[in-house]
Amino acid sequence: MSDMNKQNRSSWSGQLAFVLAAAASAIGLGNLWRFPYLAAKYGGGVFIAVYIALSLTLGFTLLVTEIAIGRYSRQSQLTAFNKLGHPKWNFLGVLATVVPLFILPYYNVIGGWVVKYFVAYVKLVAGGGTAIENPQAFFDSFVAAPWDPFVCMAIFTVVTCAVIVMGVKNGIEKSNIVMMPLLLLMAVGLAVYVGCLPGAGEGIKFYLVPDFSSCDNIGKVVLGAMGQMFYSLSLAMGIMITYGSYMRRQDSVPKAAVRIVAADTFVAVLSGFMIIPVVVMFAAKSGAGRATIDAGPGLMFVTLPKVFAEFGATGAWIGIAFFTLVLFAAFTSAISMTEACVAAVCDYLHVKRNTSVAAVCTWSIAIGSLSAFGYGRWKDFKPFGLPALDFFDSSMNVLTPIVAALICVFAGWVLRPKRILAECRRDGSAVGFKTFYAVMVKFIAPLLVLTILVSEICRTLGIGGWKI
Ligand code: PHE
Repeated sequence: MSDMNKQNRSSWSGQLAFVLAAAASAIGLGNLWRFPYLAAKYGGGVFIAVYIALSLTLGFTLLVTEIAIGRYSRQSQLTAFNKLGHPKWNFLGVLATVVPLFILPYYNVIGGWVVKYFVAYVKLVAGGGTAIENPQAFFDSFVAAPWDPFVCMAIFTVVTCAVIVMGVKNGIEKSNIVMMPLLLLMAVGLAVYVGCLPGAGEGIKFYLVPDFSSCDNIGKVVLGAMGQMFYSLSLAMGIMITYGSYMRRQDSVPKAAVRIVAADTFVAVLSGFMIIPVVVMFAAKSGAGRATIDAGPGLMFVTLPKVFAEFGATGAWIGIAFFTLVLFAAFTSAISMTEACVAAVCDYLHVKRNTSVAAVCTWSIAIGSLSAFGYGRWKDFKPFGLPALDFFDSSMNVLTPIVAALICVFAGWVLRPKRILAECRRDGSAVGFKTFYAVMVKFIAPLLVLTILVSEICRTLGIGGWKI
């Protein structure tokens, strides 16, 4: 890399901008939809406690490692390992780039679904309607439609890329400054509204009170929490390395990591207050019982619209507020994944940022079309017997732990913890977690991450009932 390039590398305008951007990446569909339903499934308070404990230990360690590698190398994940003097580890950079390159397209398809629901609720309100009549039929006909899922995905992708074209400071930072506070405001507003509904107490109890009977196997709870934490903190996609590479030297890596973990966990727990009580109330009323709560992936696009319909005219407004919130969350996460891909192409090929954005955008729409058409016109294309979207989703669950475990091995045994800790001390502050970090990154983190990997493989292949 030339000196010229070095000087031209963008940077965040400050510590807050970095934390906001990383938190914006972390806070996504995982917090709003996956966390509440896992908590409901795995004994409420038990899951929440295990999750918080894991985030503060394992999550913190992995975040510090990725951010420090990024800032130390001043490169995106693809070229960072070479820059640090370990060209043999280039394969890890390639792997950490390939993962988001394949995950981004299908994430954008789901982003497109959110666009569709947002527009549907806006149309309802504008046309004086109150509810989507049959949410299951609405969802099924939408994903199987000839063009709709593709068009929505393309819109979502192009808007994301437009933000990236504007750059780190003018694009990502500015869009986060608008979207993140609004997201937080809407989440708090919805949670308070739900909390004030008559009968909400039962749902809140269900969410918070530890229920040891529904977590007979604590191993599964820990695994579920670990996999969730991993996804939720946007780890192993090169994002935190790329974002770390834009971090100023005078800012503190560990302080940023703690804040990111705190913000991400706060929104996850808050989402539970927003979703669980209404779903529990609906389950009791409709007589559907636990099945409603365990709806899993269908919760957001089918169950919640059913619940909103119960609220009559107010329901359409709640739908708008809720899907705006989801749209912002999905959008800021997609931005971060796109940036990791764009930065990697820029650093590797030394092309202009706009050229790189155009390439990533074209790639994303092309590969995304496999998933967008995967339930409709191309439903016969089934890699490993799965619809394309499910295939990409399952590959992510297997690929990310591999990347994360390798990053730990690299940081713990090749680069050595002292280099990462030196990067943590660069802003002049004392680092009081040296031994903790070294033990975590060398032994505990790789082992725990490998456990997630094995459980994911078993889950994918349906071995041993490891359904999470
Ligand atoms: N962290 C995001 C969420 O919680 C998902 C995500 C993963 C986004 C990886 C970008 C990269 O939904």
